[in-house]
Amino acid sequence: MEQKTRPRNGRTGRIRRKALACPPIGALMRYGERIVRVVAEASGQRVIIQSVNEDGCAFRSTVKWASLTPLDTALIASAQRVEHYEIAAYGSLIALGKQLGETTAVQLLGETLKEEKSTDEKLSLLAEEKVAAEALGK
Ligand SMILES: [Fe+2]
Repeated sequence: MEQKTRPRNGRTGRIRRKALACPPIGALMRYGERIVRVVAEASGQRVIIQSVNEDGCAFRSTVKWASLTPLDTALIASAQRVEHYEIAAYGSLIALGKQLGETTAVQLLGETLKEEKSTDEKLSLLAEEKVAAEALGK
């Protein structure tokens, strides 16, 4: 769930912390509405980021550290909830497929289930890295 604040001016908004130091290389960050990965440090308190455009093509650009904000923990949690739903659904389909003797479908669903579990594990690592980084004040 997105954490909201109500500043004194009456408007609501997300809590945003600007990057005050160079974010770690490889970090996932928010740049405006985009999720980006920091790929290298550049001069003048800037970093090179990689993101994906509307056509699905990866591209790089150079931005100031202060333009980046940490990825919301809520966003990671939402993605992980989707993965858990998918894992439950594929698990149920595999059980049903076994009862029906659909060996090919069971095999394909099993491969997809492995991918969903792998994504879930990656999201867990990302969440753990984020919590550790916040605990260290990064
Ligand atoms: Fe998934």
